[in-house]
Amino acid sequence: MDQQGNKKYFTITYGCQMNESDSEKINGQLEELGYLPAEQMEEADIVILNTCSIRQNAEEKVYGKIGEVKQLKDKNPHVLLGIAGCMAQENRRKLVQRMPIIDFVIGPYNIHNLHEIVTDKEAVGSHVVLTQMKPQRVRDYSLLKASRKSKIFAWVPIMQGCNKFCTYCIVPYVRGRETSRTIEDIKAEVISLAQDGYKEITLLGQNVNSYGLDFKNNTDFSDLIRALDTVEGIKRIRYMTSHPRDMTKEMVDVMAASSKVVRHMHLPVQHGSNEMLKRMNRGYTVEHFYEMVDYIRERMPDVGFTTDLITGFPGETEEMNQATIALLKKVRFDSAYTFIYSPRRGTPAASMTNQISDEIKHRRLNEIMEVQNQISLEINKELEGQDIEILVEGPTKQDENHWFGRTSTNKMIVFPKVEGIKIGDIVLAHVNIAQTWILKGIVKD
Ligand code: 5AD
Ligand code: SF4
Repeated sequence: MDQQGNKKYFTITYGCQMNESDSEKINGQLEELGYLPAEQMEEADIVILNTCSIRQNAEEKVYGKIGEVKQLKDKNPHVLLGIAGCMAQENRRKLVQRMPIIDFVIGPYNIHNLHEIVTDKEAVGSHVVLTQMKPQRVRDYSLLKASRKSKIFAWVPIMQGCNKFCTYCIVPYVRGRETSRTIEDIKAEVISLAQDGYKEITLLGQNVNSYGLDFKNNTDFSDLIRALDTVEGIKRIRYMTSHPRDMTKEMVDVMAASSKVVRHMHLPVQHGSNEMLKRMNRGYTVEHFYEMVDYIRERMPDVGFTTDLITGFPGETEEMNQATIALLKKVRFDSAYTFIYSPRRGTPAASMTNQISDEIKHRRLNEIMEVQNQISLEINKELEGQDIEILVEGPTKQDENHWFGRTSTNKMIVFPKVEGIKIGDIVLAHVNIAQTWILKGIVKD
């Protein structure tokens, strides 16, 4: 609480962009209740941890943070602790049973109940657990007001859930089945964002390529892109995440024809061995993946490609790991996010035989990263000396005199701050030095 008696909130977000977006909705609800944002957790009257269950280490970070909040509550017993997000949805009542310092547990599709929960909790003081997942709730939740962090870049969830059931993945269990928002709803939101001055939107879904299929009226992601492409004022449309099985050539054509859809494709391949892809239930082969990559590059020659990879899935042999390395060399992604397989309770892969030891998983991860880092650097080196358009995002975390922007292909260019250049400007950056993860350059006024 501050000296004026205003109550404050502090929300910490773990995991993916969907959680970032959910946190903005959580904060929007708390602000409606009269709470103000706290600069630090120590000032807060309510702390919300918006959690992620995708891998064990994401969960461990949250348990560590709960320990810190306990110390805070020991000093200030009135502070409320809420657990939101995927761990809330997965563990429900078990969380408060194990850790009674948690005041409430709230699933992603119950954010609109925050009002009642916080008011009741302040009044009654008992534990509250709300984790309902009905499609109507999913729709109500889409309409909640967000307190957006940025005035230029906005998350726009287009669907919730996933129907794919990859055998390693917890998401379908915690986020439920695919439920799309209508094109009308999404377009109305994007128009209003454009009117508020937003320049870039990122369409969010676990698998954006299956957007609209639940309507069963032939609507798909191509229709959504066509509808959003005409919104004036929006300069860039990003989207996450694509699925190699559900992406169609028509979608690629529509994106290629758009001047707003960015030239960045995050297309998780997960593995370079067909045997592994099958056991992961990914629904495509390496050959199909190559075909899609070739088609995308043919239509968008300047596209930046990124991917996700899992190493150490049960039954993975040295030869299979080499197949992933061969795929990396063949496709030459701009970058790859590599994850060590983490068994998730209740998923089929967790009970498969032939689990791989941590030591082998780490060694294979290092082998993969070494190859990929070399490729990323080589690709970036080719950009040295070029002038590339960026959308300016603002100061870097480390140094407020160094700003950065992103290219359409999603590369970060860091440059010394220039008077007269504002967040949201589109400018040309001259690349001087290429590194594995970032480019360094200058921007002229
Ligand atoms: N272990 C390791 N990585 C995982 N991912 C999803 N589930 C797991 C898991 N159990 C990775 C996938 C996915 C990314 C978001 O996280 O690569 O694309
Ligand atoms: Fe998980 Fe697979 Fe769905 Fe992605 S597509 S969220 S990896 S089940």
